[in-house]
Amino acid sequence: MKIIMACQSKKHYRIGWLPGDGIGQDVMEAARIVLDKVQLDAEYIHGDIGWEFWCKEGDALPKRTIELLQNVDAALFGAITSKPTKAAEEELVPELKGKGLVYRSPIVRMRQLFDLYICLRPCKAYPGNPLNYREDIDLVVFRENTEDLYAGVEFHPVPEEIKEVLKKHSKNFEPFVNLEADQFAISCKINTRKGSERIIRAAFEYARKNGRKKVTIVHKANVVRATDGLFLETAKVVAKDYPEIQYDEANVDAITMWLLKNPNNYDVLVAPNLYGDIVSDLCAQMVGGLGFGCSGNIGEKLAVFEPTHGSAPKYAGQYKVNPIATILAAKMMLDWLGETEKAQLIENAVAEVIKEGKVRTYDMGGSNTTLEMARAIADKI
Ligand code: NAI
Ligand code: MG
Repeated sequence: MKIIMACQSKKHYRIGWLPGDGIGQDVMEAARIVLDKVQLDAEYIHGDIGWEFWCKEGDALPKRTIELLQNVDAALFGAITSKPTKAAEEELVPELKGKGLVYRSPIVRMRQLFDLYICLRPCKAYPGNPLNYREDIDLVVFRENTEDLYAGVEFHPVPEEIKEVLKKHSKNFEPFVNLEADQFAISCKINTRKGSERIIRAAFEYARKNGRKKVTIVHKANVVRATDGLFLETAKVVAKDYPEIQYDEANVDAITMWLLKNPNNYDVLVAPNLYGDIVSDLCAQMVGGLGFGCSGNIGEKLAVFEPTHGSAPKYAGQYKVNPIATILAAKMMLDWLGETEKAQLIENAVAEVIKEGKVRTYDMGGSNTTLEMARAIADKI
């Protein structure tokens, strides 16, 4: 298994450059100013992705972009626009009506196609950020990225055969047995031993490599016994290979309270997909929210780094939003490529600009633009 951030550094890189929609374009332009300043020897190859291509071609992740991603060392991605329902899509793009096209999130597809099973979300409070919940937060969340409740195996209406099988195999299904097919819905939570093991191992490896002391397994195995039970059982086995790292477990509900009360009791957290999604957003908010949340979608062959925010259509093209999340995502990408010195230069510069407090975007209570923030960071390098 290739371990996160252990990719051999090399001289020349091919970087997939995926701005996407809305403010994705603004923040990527900003990230480029900073990447150019550290003089990464790289070619940035543009890839089409997002709502625009869904409207034009019926595909938010065109084949040419998939081919591009097969031939890059890593990729940086801005944000995309998507709509939660088919009706909302058709209202926006009347030409789609009746075509029977089903929108599929390009991010989810990238994760599936390239088996980007790790979602890595560092959450660090940089001193002086007026949005910090506390100044002493330095957490890293590992979220499983390919299975769990997000496997997409869902039923509504529920077919009769499924009902029959559940009736036969689970006593707990009794209260639902007489419901009409469209009066209930089922989403399957699927967790595999392999999927659990590789994300948990990634978290422990990260802890070992980065001098982290403790890994907390986030679960709800007391209630969700089969799937979370498997996750927890796997964790106990994996932990034995890392005796120097403290093993810890927490229920997902309880940890949301404890994280707010004593965030520095935690170090590295690892969770199945849904809990990881929720807990990582909570942690991101504690260190400044959407303008600061960055993440890596990491597999064995490819890693795609991104800010966690969306395309914020109302601010598109206004150069108003905070580019720090994307700049920190670029920093993560450099770490993954093995360019740790350049990564550190970026992080130090971000920390310095935040601490000085002279340049701030609107979310931080200032009035500087996206590109002014990027230039201020580049100037510190
Ligand atoms: P959003 O994250 O795009 O924006 C929500 C609000 O957060 C914005 O209106 C803005 O006030 C603030 N915000 C976001 N990024 C910021 C930044 N860098 N600096 C300062 N403030 C920032 O979420 P929303 O409005 O729910 O979704 C807009 C579109 O983005 C939707 O189509 C949604 O599906 C999509 N989306 C895409 C994601 C992705 O590409 N990874 C993630 C989340 C949403
Ligand atoms: Mg999320």
